[in-house]
Amino acid sequence: MADFVRVASLSDLPAGSAKTVEVGGTAIALFNVGGQVHATTNTCPHRGGPLGEGVLGGDVVVCPWHAFEFEVTSGRCLNNPNLQIPCFPVKVEGQDILVQV
Ligand code: FES
Repeated sequence: MADFVRVASLSDLPAGSAKTVEVGGTAIALFNVGGQVHATTNTCPHRGGPLGEGVLGGDVVVCPWHAFEFEVTSGRCLNNPNLQIPCFPVKVEGQDILVQV
């Protein structure tokens, strides 16, 4: 199993915001849902839109390309039950956000 890798500082990801980071060449989307950090793939399974650039409302991110909605806590797509995005384990240590990809 891969190690947790530091990807960002909590100060770069205020509550309600999203951000894209890279881990070993893989783009990961980070979301701060009310102080709880979640990580998913950055790549929308519809046509590859950048989910980390989407708008976060509660625990749902809206893909900036065609507005599909994904629950960042579970990876579930609210528009199409056949679409699911991978979620990754997250740890917060002090100000450091660590993700295991
Ligand atoms: S690429 Fe995300 S909804 Fe189409």
